[in-house]
Amino acid sequence: MSRPSRIARIPSGRLSACVLVATLGGCTALFAEPGASGLGDPFFPALGNGGYDAVAYDLALTIDPTAKTLDGVATIDARALMALSSFSLELHRLDVREVSVDGRPADFVRDGDELRVTPDDALAEGAHFVVRVTYGGAPEAVPSAAVPFLPGVGWMTSDDSVYVMAEPNGASSWFPCNDHPSDKAFYRFELTVPVADTAVANGVPTARVDHGDGTQTLTFVASDPMATYLATIAVGPFELVEDEGPGGLVLRHWFHPTIEAAQRAPFERVPEMISLFSELFGGYPFECFGSIVSNLQVGAALETQTVPTYGLHSASPSTIAHELAHQWFGDSVSVRSFSDVWLAEGFASYASWLWSEHADGPEAIARRAERTYGMLRRADPGPPAAPGVEDMFGMSVYVRGAFALHALRLTAGDETFFEILRTFTGRYRHGNASVADFEAVVAELAGAEASDTLAEWLHAEHVPEFDLGGDDAVVPADTSTQG
Ligand code: TRP
Ligand code: ZN
Repeated sequence: MSRPSRIARIPSGRLSACVLVATLGGCTALFAEPGASGLGDPFFPALGNGGYDAVAYDLALTIDPTAKTLDGVATIDARALMALSSFSLELHRLDVREVSVDGRPADFVRDGDELRVTPDDALAEGAHFVVRVTYGGAPEAVPSAAVPFLPGVGWMTSDDSVYVMAEPNGASSWFPCNDHPSDKAFYRFELTVPVADTAVANGVPTARVDHGDGTQTLTFVASDPMATYLATIAVGPFELVEDEGPGGLVLRHWFHPTIEAAQRAPFERVPEMISLFSELFGGYPFECFGSIVSNLQVGAALETQTVPTYGLHSASPSTIAHELAHQWFGDSVSVRSFSDVWLAEGFASYASWLWSEHADGPEAIARRAERTYGMLRRADPGPPAAPGVEDMFGMSVYVRGAFALHALRLTAGDETFFEILRTFTGRYRHGNASVADFEAVVAELAGAEASDTLAEWLHAEHVPEFDLGGDDAVVPADTSTQG
């Protein structure tokens, strides 16, 4: 349903004044246009929306982990990037009861996963505005071409708990949003759940109020910019184990009670991992860290910001190192578009090589390099800088992508290589970068040989030849693509 044009309703006497003083509020309507309902991402063209920038999300949600329902209010602070007659948010299924803009009821229509909002008055370019969406229902995961190993991404449930693992296109399964990593924002969560359970979200727990009626409200604040797919909540009967990282960094691990001691033990090495990666990648970028170790039947983990989420039995030292490294690569420095996924997965995968080099000694990485190179030459996955959407989380990005960094390291030398990593994480901290942005840092700090080696590993159709300096003619296959 479209509204009558705003222009038609402007009294003609005001038109000439508007031409003279185009910035007057009443004239916004003359120039206002609908914001685009997609950002044209190469993998997910409909994700994200044009015309505004989401600044902060405040999500006040009541969650029933038994009924698997969610009800609440999303309050979104945003800034108009152009004069807007209407704008779009993503929201998958769920019922929308009411939408307001700057406190006044606004018209809205649903079109697939787009929620188009038409405020009473057009929004001027540069204007800050507040959108409130009252919504709820039983959330459903969003099917994703990039994640064929799951029925969908986003909202996930077990017998007694709910979780969110949304990469790449599932954030709209639980809140209305500008669902693209190029629009990072601040988050505050107010989660009302049964007192028998607990609730977790990104960032720092700041308050707990017991309502005395069997429910409680827990508040979490994430005060560094975050991509929508990294936002998460978990509700269930978790056990909290606190620990301390380097420099007094607070660590909070939430274990589902069914997680056994052997599955919890590897988390004891998180402080040592943070020390190692802080030295190699630059200071840890967030205010806290921890884990949600779930009872989900999902054989994978996701780097949800400040608090990675693990499927049942998917926490190993190598996965924990991988998700921790994502805090620098993917979370603090986010992809500009989803086709830049190598910047997240290639680096996180190589980080588990670095952890194994530290924990098991330098011989371990030399053997791993030989095995991996032999396997890559046989399987010959395509270039990690240009995976298809179906291969976003495949061997090309994770294994050839990790080897690309190893090849760069061997060519540039350790000192230059880690200088490149620290320069890159520092320059794009809490922002977005493309594969080309990383290559530019390499060109700046290393010689042409290093740049060319990296370019081949990233862009050449076939796995390049590479001299590891040893006898790599006969090597067993390495089937462990990632931790
Ligand atoms: N980024 C995840 C990793 O660290 C992989 C992943 C992508 C994922 N989408 C997911 C895992 C959804 C669980 C659910 O490798
Ligand atoms: Zn990863």
